[in-house]
Amino acid sequence: MRTLHFTTLLFLLAGECLVHALTVTPVVTLQDVTALRAQNNYYSSGYAAVMILSSQYAGEKAGGLFVAQGKTGQADDGGVYIVDAASVVWERSFSGPVSVLWYGADPTGATASTTAFNQTINYAMANNADVVVPSGHYVLDQGLQLPSKISMNGEGAVTLDFAQLMTGAAITIGEVDSYYYNAGFPLVDIFQQGKLSNMLIIGGNVTTGIFLNGQSTTEQYATPFYTLEKLDIKFFNIGVMIGQQTWLNGLFSCAIQQYSRYGLYISNAANEGEDISIYNSAIFNANNANAIGAYIARGSSISGDVNFYGTSFDYNGGPGLVVASGQARFFGCHFEGDLSVSVESKGYAEFFGCWFRMDYGFDITGGQTNFFGGYLPTTNTMNVTSGTTVNIVDRQT
Ligand SMILES: *[C@@H]1O[C@H](CO)[C@@H](O)[C@H](O)[C@H]1NC(C)=O
Ligand SMILES: *[C@@H]1O[C@H](CO)[C@@H](O)[C@H](O)[C@H]1NC(C)=O
Ligand SMILES: *[C@@H]1O[C@H](CO)[C@@H](O)[C@H](O)[C@H]1NC(C)=O
Repeated sequence: MRTLHFTTLLFLLAGECLVHALTVTPVVTLQDVTALRAQNNYYSSGYAAVMILSSQYAGEKAGGLFVAQGKTGQADDGGVYIVDAASVVWERSFSGPVSVLWYGADPTGATASTTAFNQTINYAMANNADVVVPSGHYVLDQGLQLPSKISMNGEGAVTLDFAQLMTGAAITIGEVDSYYYNAGFPLVDIFQQGKLSNMLIIGGNVTTGIFLNGQSTTEQYATPFYTLEKLDIKFFNIGVMIGQQTWLNGLFSCAIQQYSRYGLYISNAANEGEDISIYNSAIFNANNANAIGAYIARGSSISGDVNFYGTSFDYNGGPGLVVASGQARFFGCHFEGDLSVSVESKGYAEFFGCWFRMDYGFDITGGQTNFFGGYLPTTNTMNVTSGTTVNIVDRQT
């Protein structure tokens, strides 16, 4: 915006309005927004804009041009709207996503950035903006609520560190009535797709990492087509939990690792018809032998599928995959190492061209299980309870 401003000035100087250009008030420069808040006569003196240079934690990445709006009554929100001592509102001039650094997030991890992230998300929710998280290590001491239409994307190497969080979920995606809806934010447009991408998200081994929660009394399709992409989700009790009324566009190229109870837990009993897809992801290295890589419990009346494409399950030390109920399909997936696969009585699983080299075999206690092609060595044990259907077509050994 600085460039734009000076370009405008040069244009005016070069043009015919020389007299007008000379009357343009120069931009004042201040160190940070605290200095702007302290001013009481800039607007009355005719200053139209203020250039803020930096902030305590983020340096010049938090700076920018603020344009005077007059006494509009808009509250100071800490990042985009700054109100000075004369009650004049100065609005940050920008296009594109809103940055957590503007709201005072600390990329060094020395102080908690929860309030800054929350304020950034609140601005994004009210203004249909996306959130950008510039590279850094951010400590978050409370969970974040991310509305499903909002994208939050990392830029460079980004770590969100929830190691201090002891309850709830690190990031809950979806509207919560008492939170956003009752606060007067607009209803969710079911075709507006949000995305969370490109970051390492770490916990302290006790909470859920990402909870997709569509449950809402006011808006049925509260997490429409959400996308999780290039996330490394580590050290949680449950890595990713997909709850009710969630239409998930997909998990793309995500890694879920070092989970204590479940890597991925899908439980959707109250809602039918949605497909959930997982692409090119990896679920591996559980923290203990009782942890389950992916647990699918969608209820037997669910018509939507859970589809896994090119996803690998590795070294879980216990059950790598449990299909407890609902339909699950696996295309070109890879099961290797210290794990087993179970399909329980209400489950229906199909494996197309999958590759199995597991220390423990299959435990098929019901439902139907079909194998089409793929690599299924004879050394794998397959415990099949009588009365269940297992079809094996074109297996390679
Ligand atoms: C985040 O903002 C919402 C809406 O203003 C507020 O209700 C909530 O308490 C805030 N949460 C945190 C952790 O600051
Ligand atoms: C979580 O568990 C891992 C692996 O057991 C361990 O290395 C890490 O220190 C634990 N994190 C916390 C915060 O306890
Ligand atoms: C299959 O049955 C055997 C004998 O009961 C048991 O030792 C083994 O753990 C079972 N395999 C799986 C994958 O459950």
